[in-house]
This record gives sequence, structure tokens and C-alpha cells, in this order.
Amino acid sequence: MTRTPVVGGNWKMNTTRAEAVKLAASMQDGCRDMGGGVEVVIFPPFVFLDAVSSGLDAEAPPALGAQDVYFEPNGAFTGEISAAMLREVGVTSVLAGHSERRHVMGESDDLVNRKVHAAIHADFQCILCIGETQQQREDGQTNEINREQLIGSLWDVEADDVLRRIVIAYEPVWAIGTGLTASPEDAQHAHTAIRAEFALLYGDAAASEIRIIYGGSVKPDNAEALFAERDIDGFLVGGASLDAQAFLRIVAAARSAKQGNTCESH
Ligand code: PGA
Repeated sequence: MTRTPVVGGNWKMNTTRAEAVKLAASMQDGCRDMGGGVEVVIFPPFVFLDAVSSGLDAEAPPALGAQDVYFEPNGAFTGEISAAMLREVGVTSVLAGHSERRHVMGESDDLVNRKVHAAIHADFQCILCIGETQQQREDGQTNEINREQLIGSLWDVEADDVLRRIVIAYEPVWAIGTGLTASPEDAQHAHTAIRAEFALLYGDAAASEIRIIYGGSVKPDNAEALFAERDIDGFLVGGASLDAQAFLRIVAAARSAKQGNTCESH
């Protein structure tokens, strides 16, 4: 089973409008020069999505993603953004359950699950983030936490929808924005356990198809070694995605490490 690698750039609450437009354009130029092999998607701040979208060729990578989505279609939900609003500005992919949403904003698996359903309903790709905290890791709970978050976030999601729409991002919280990266062996270990858990939920064939990407201080100089691991199918990149050249080097590492088909926007 060949799984096309996915590399996402999560810009979080960074960039000015002008920087966002420039960064996206540089990434599109870089993807064009590189050719195919990897699905690339960027996640600018909500308020710059429209401007970034206007500056990009929607037919060429990177695809445009949103860092979050609310599950209701419209109504009295102050501060929230619906899938339809995101679609209107060119978004085709969303993050759900990023650890900063779970741990800083207090999102539960139940809320993440509603967002996953909303994303699927809107025909978005949905990058579902899971991962343990430092304390949970020290307490030996890594696999248990990943299992809980996986089951809770994918509750009542059909196998077809999972395979068409979901990418799982394993992001150990202790490695995000800290400069600490899970070793390739540690990451592979967690990814194997997540794939095994996924097999229990959706069967072996689905488990060999689902893409599980790694996030947490991914940089150009550690991407290749991580990618060499059998169950690591790409990256969700935070800090290094604010630098077009660094991000493109990570995409290039993914491209050379696994022989995918084309530089796609999914
Ligand atoms: P980082 O962030 O690469 O800055 O560690 C990763 C993420 O939060 O997706």
C-alpha cells in the first residue's frame, strides 16, 4: 500500500497579512519547482485566508486549510467560523483537535468529534490531531491517551469517510514548539500503536491506508530520519512552516524519502 505523504504547515497565530500572502506565494513557487509526490497544505490564520486564497492558484499546491472549524452551520455562536464560510474563501482542509485547542482552549474529544463530523459533511480533508502530554508520557499513558482521543474524536464516523477525509496527526504535546522532537524510533512506536488501534476500529485494510503524520518540532534536519520510519506518512509543521525555504526542504525530504506520485493539493 503506497500512502501519499502529506505535509501541513500550521502558521498558528503568526504573520501579518502581507507576510501571509508572501509566504504562501513562495510556497506555491517552491512546490511548482519541485514537482509532485507530496500533498501540501497550509493553515494561515482565519483573517488572512481570503487574502492568501486570492494570491494562490487554487489548482496547484499548496491546498488552503483552516486551523479550526465550528460544527454548527450558522447562528448565534460569537467568534466561531463555519465550514461554509471557510469553503467560500477557498479552504479545502481543516485541523481538528490540535493540542493547543485541547489544552489551552479546553476542547474535549466530544467537541473535536463534532468538528470532525462537520468537516466530513463539508467534504473537507480533516487533519485530526492526537497526542499525550509530558506528564502522561512519564506516567506511561501514551498509547492509552492516543487510543482515547482516537476513539472519542472518530465516534460514529464511517469507514468510507475516514479513508476519504481523515489524516491522523500524532503530535506529542511535549514536542510542540519546544525544540524537543520525538526520536524516529519513539515516533514510529507511537504510530504503530495508533495504526493498530485504528485497525481495531476500522479493520486491517483501512489501517494500512490511513495516513498518520507526525508533528512536534519538525525541522529540515530531522525530517528525513523521521520520514524513513515505516509508519510516518508526513508532517504537521508549526514553527518551521513560517519560513518558506525551511518548509519546502521538509516537503522535499518527504518527497525523496517516499516515492509518492505527484505534488498534490489533495
Ligand atoms: P512545531 O508545531 O513544529 O512548532 O512544534 C507543530 C504543531 O503544533 O503542529
